[in-house]
Amino acid sequence: STKRLNELKAFVLKGLMSSDKDDLLLANGLNYHTVVKWGDKISETDTFGFNNDFTCFIPFDENNPKDGLLWVNHEYVNQLFVSGFDKSKYENPLEHRTIEQVDKEMYHVGGSIVRIKEKNGVWSVVKNDSHNRRITAKTPIKLNWDSPIKGKTTVIGTNSNCSGGITPWKTFITCEENYNDCFGETVYDANNKASHKPSRYGWEHFYNYPPEHFGWVVEVNPKDGTAQKHIALGRFAHECCTLYELEDKRVVAYSGDDKNNEHLYKFVSSKPGSLKEGTLYVADTINGKWLALDWENQSVLKNKFKDQTEVLVRAREAAKLLGATALNRPEDIEIDPITGHIFITLTNNKPKGDVHGSILKIEETHGNFDALTFKASTYMAGGEENGFSCPDNLAFDMSGNLWITTDMSGNAMNRTDKPYLPFKNNSLFVIPRLGKDAGKVIRVASAPRDAELTGPWFSPDGKTLFLSVQHPGEQTKNLNNPTSTWPFDKDNIPKPAVVAIQGDLIEKMNKLNQIES
Ligand code: FEO
Ligand code: CA
Ligand code: CA
Ligand code: CA
Repeated sequence: STKRLNELKAFVLKGLMSSDKDDLLLANGLNYHTVVKWGDKISETDTFGFNNDFTCFIPFDENNPKDGLLWVNHEYVNQLFVSGFDKSKYENPLEHRTIEQVDKEMYHVGGSIVRIKEKNGVWSVVKNDSHNRRITAKTPIKLNWDSPIKGKTTVIGTNSNCSGGITPWKTFITCEENYNDCFGETVYDANNKASHKPSRYGWEHFYNYPPEHFGWVVEVNPKDGTAQKHIALGRFAHECCTLYELEDKRVVAYSGDDKNNEHLYKFVSSKPGSLKEGTLYVADTINGKWLALDWENQSVLKNKFKDQTEVLVRAREAAKLLGATALNRPEDIEIDPITGHIFITLTNNKPKGDVHGSILKIEETHGNFDALTFKASTYMAGGEENGFSCPDNLAFDMSGNLWITTDMSGNAMNRTDKPYLPFKNNSLFVIPRLGKDAGKVIRVASAPRDAELTGPWFSPDGKTLFLSVQHPGEQTKNLNNPTSTWPFDKDNIPKPAVVAIQGDLIEKMNKLNQIES
């Protein structure tokens, strides 16, 4: 095996150039096949939803990494594709909305559970498996809290499911991000008087539910699809939720609020194996302190809010009162499996002049995940020098190589937004930890037009990278002339899909830890 080691040591990763081609391009040594796409039938009654984002795979049996349940988030809909509603046609779009359109839109968000199996190197959905099901904006979900929220202990469903995570007890976590697009938001003036800010989709005109029922971390039981919203983790535009199990089995959960000048949070549970009770903290990255959103012990919160429930529902306001640091849109978070350092993408903050974003690194004091102090530093900045812009999702493989996807938003792709021109289509990059290319940022996949690559997740044997191709052809104005036709179906309609990426490059990357640095 000395020969094999020498081969690994000599392994040079050849990356891709940036590209605006309408295709999913992969570096040499990689191949892909589609596992499931928008509109696929997954059971007698259900079809796969729209705009797949986070993916997560849990095998039935730890000894067989090739058969298990895939969870996929369906973040939001493109109304033109999903319900046929074309708001560009109307001066007052709301007057032309129908309940049938809204019902279609509500069906296509949430998440999917599908049993998938690998046979001869190809992953496919086990059609009509009893586990296959949809969770939608109309799947009733319990609130895991002792008092009702706006009068309810069970809410209509989930929406805006962006990224997520997995619990140590093997359940799925899906996070409600831009919930204000669906039912709007409650906003407060200087006198603490509440008013309703309307949503983008206008669902509240057909289904009048309070915004406070959304913006939570949701846990889904893979076996039966039952779900619960964890109030203790606070309410904001949760991008993701990344969990770590302490030695005594209590859990630590990191989550970012993806909005300009919002914050990074950490929850530490008080009981093992549960997200119901514990303390929610927010980061002061200047002084390296975790600040507790604790009504009982923080007079500044006691003066403003009536109880801990209100602190959690209005977590953003509570965080600011405590002196939390305004961050440049914190998105995904991953824990380096080798060093235990925590990596957070700060995608950008255009009004503040940060167009390319960066990756933030947090080192908890003495490596204790429940520490109340930490050190923050910039791990890497986006921009032309490092070759990527607007980092969004992160994933570590078994060797501690860091995989990064980018999200230059829609207008970055229509060739008018200058700083983004050199980067062309959104991409997937890897930063090798060891070997000849250690520390370099290498482009390994380039997305179809208007698409974003999201939800990178490695199979348990490290041989497959599941990846979502989200919103191909998003800028389409007319379905007869879409801006992308990926995945090149006969109907020429672009479709979000989950792909399985495999090949020698992934296998070699996963074995890099066998060589000396
Ligand atoms: Fe849904 Fe912040 O990405
Ligand atoms: Ca994201
Ligand atoms: Ca991730
Ligand atoms: Ca994003």
